[in-house]
Amino acid sequence: MSNPSILILPGDGIGPEVMTEVVKIIDWYGAKRGLTFDVTHDLVGGAAYDAHGAPISDETMEKAQSVDAVLLGAVGGPKYDNLDFSVKPERGLLRLRKEMDLFANLRPAQCFDALADFSSLKKDIVAGLDIMIVRELTSGIYFGEPRGISIENNERVGINTQRYTESEIERAARAAFDLAMKRNKKLCSMEKANVMESGILWRDVVTEVHADYPEVELSHMYADNGAMQLVRAPKQFDVIVTDNLFGDILSDCAAMLTGSLGMLPSASLGAPMENGRPKAMYEPVHGSAPDIAGQGKANPIACVLSFAMALRYSFNEGDEATRLEKAIEQVLADGVRTADLAGEEGVVPVSTSEMGDKIVEALDASL
Ligand code: NAD
Ligand code: IPM
Ligand code: MN
Repeated sequence: MSNPSILILPGDGIGPEVMTEVVKIIDWYGAKRGLTFDVTHDLVGGAAYDAHGAPISDETMEKAQSVDAVLLGAVGGPKYDNLDFSVKPERGLLRLRKEMDLFANLRPAQCFDALADFSSLKKDIVAGLDIMIVRELTSGIYFGEPRGISIENNERVGINTQRYTESEIERAARAAFDLAMKRNKKLCSMEKANVMESGILWRDVVTEVHADYPEVELSHMYADNGAMQLVRAPKQFDVIVTDNLFGDILSDCAAMLTGSLGMLPSASLGAPMENGRPKAMYEPVHGSAPDIAGQGKANPIACVLSFAMALRYSFNEGDEATRLEKAIEQVLADGVRTADLAGEEGVVPVSTSEMGDKIVEALDASL
């Protein structure tokens, strides 16, 4: 049997910096656990635009479609802010998600004990937090038509359309119910059924799918209240399912419960391929962080934890995923902190690369 294949797309800004640390971890698994992957690297985002005038090439898209998993760093940056909308770095990421049909974006937010003091919320509100946001990723207002900027009555009008079909809602809901069944059997669906027809349909379809998962306790919440509840009492949630735009915002909000945006991984999953593995891309929730790019300050943990999700969801290596998560937990418990987490007095932050090395040391110690 050939080795499982991974396409690495580091992207822009801190993307390549954090991905370098993931490569160390991948190499460790090859050397120490006999888990060898066929790894190829390619360009996405501004880096791809600089090379060939498009934020992702057709050739790279083909590779992404054919590998077992894609790992993506981050895209975007001020250098590309004034580009035409159609070639902006973010369009490369959105093309990957859409054409690979990665409809279920799993964004876990876990508060490691060592960081409970560091969250902007009080310790007892976040300590032990372990929630999962399932964000619908290939539809909604990100992709709905009509869209664009046009002229009406001599002024510019910006248009985007929130549009969901029943089947799009249903498959995202099933992904969330399936996860709820493996966790605490509790699911909260968030929309704005009070003001949006698409929200009414969302609530109806999620309720219909619930009939197939009678053991799961289902609740519904308006997304604005959901944002407030996430900050007020996040531990009331286990799995949350929501649309593309609300999921984007609510997951950034959940990030701060864990201490830093630099801690949040994600898995974007589609339908099973012929080999039984889901179409998949793994990416940290954060962006290219232009304010700290090139300084060796970025926290690589979100990207490394995204690889742990790849081990679990693409490669059926749940125990190895847990090993990696535990190694990170140990490093944090030892007081190792990148700058985003080094708020306490007297804590000298480590660099991106030193954090990667510490995680490798903790992996060694786990053997
Ligand atoms: P951002 O996530 O890049 O940064 C927000 C803040 O969090 C910044 O202060 C940054 O320094 C900090 N931060 C983020 N990741 C960090 C890490 N790993 N370690 C330490 N600090 C970290 O969001 P932004 O500034 O709104 O966007 C910058 C660019 O990134 C934009 O072009 C945006 O479109 C893009 N973006 C890309 C993705 C992606 O590729 N998945 C996600 C979000 C934003
Ligand atoms: C994310 C990002 C992306 C999104 C952008 C960069 C397209 O914010 O992955 O959370 O809005 O989905
Ligand atoms: Mn986002």
